[in-house]
Amino acid sequence: MNPLTLNLSSSSSITCTSPQVTVVGAGNVGGTLAQRIAERNLADVVLLDVLDGRPQGIALDLMESRGIEGHDRIIRGTTDYADTAGSSVVVITAGLPRKPGMSRDDLVKTNAQIVVDAARQAIAHSPDAVLIMVTNPLDVLTYLAWKASGLPPERVMGMAGILDSSRFQTFIALELGVASTDVSAMVLGSHGDLMVPLPRYSTVNGIPISELMDADTIERLVQRTRNGGAEIVELMKTGGAYYAPASSTCVMVEAIVQNRSRLLPIASYLNGQYGLKDVFIGVPTRVGCRGVESVLELDLFPDELAALQASAEAVRQRTHDAQALL
Ligand code: 2OP
Repeated sequence: MNPLTLNLSSSSSITCTSPQVTVVGAGNVGGTLAQRIAERNLADVVLLDVLDGRPQGIALDLMESRGIEGHDRIIRGTTDYADTAGSSVVVITAGLPRKPGMSRDDLVKTNAQIVVDAARQAIAHSPDAVLIMVTNPLDVLTYLAWKASGLPPERVMGMAGILDSSRFQTFIALELGVASTDVSAMVLGSHGDLMVPLPRYSTVNGIPISELMDADTIERLVQRTRNGGAEIVELMKTGGAYYAPASSTCVMVEAIVQNRSRLLPIASYLNGQYGLKDVFIGVPTRVGCRGVESVLELDLFPDELAALQASAEAVRQRTHDAQALL
């Protein structure tokens, strides 16, 4: 008999709930994201994968660290979408990662159907959720997931710009020998070779980096940022990055579940902003409990705008090609 059984007080009619986040895909990114969400005490987590046993094992392992990590979040593992019902946020990380020499776009054939099925099933059980896409090719699959989910576009977003900006931030900090937390860096556009790092909007405690580094150095860091994902794939050989992608995704989850109205570089649906329509691309976006609250249109220089539009046009073309695969 449990001596702590809830007494039938007047408050017993109150249902106490914690926000719940579904993470589809119990690979390195999904498992690390589940850990980040729980250990930051943001929400309960349901980790889903098609590989029976893996999500359940990761969930139990994370639960067994709660006392040490000092949180009370419930982490569950499952292969059944019914167990994910009622989530505030659904994150899709399922799909294959790159191998050395592959581009993110090479993954579309294997990952498109996985993502479409996951979005359709997850949102059917959590129709009020905000959907965050992580699987590559990110911008293309965010569009396909949006279409499959039936959600309004403002409740769908892709994680990429935060990760790319974090890499640019890191490379600037390492070059200057300053704390990464003192650096603010911005990368817009697609999560690929045509991403648009913006040195003009990158600072060290408000000081433009152009006042701290010469143009050649900045260009070198821009190129390393563009190649950031591939650099790790080449080192890891059997997969890609997952710690920084999980951290970046957790920033978006936190902005939503805590309704923080953060201004973040994420893949959002454009309907005319920057002269772009019907495409998901990385732009400065205000993110809160409703998902995308607004898209900020920066007064970009002509070359910056041209790079963003070229990036979006390539995504639009690849999105069109990917839809033919379904
Ligand atoms: C990256 O850039 C996995 O696309 C992710 O590392």
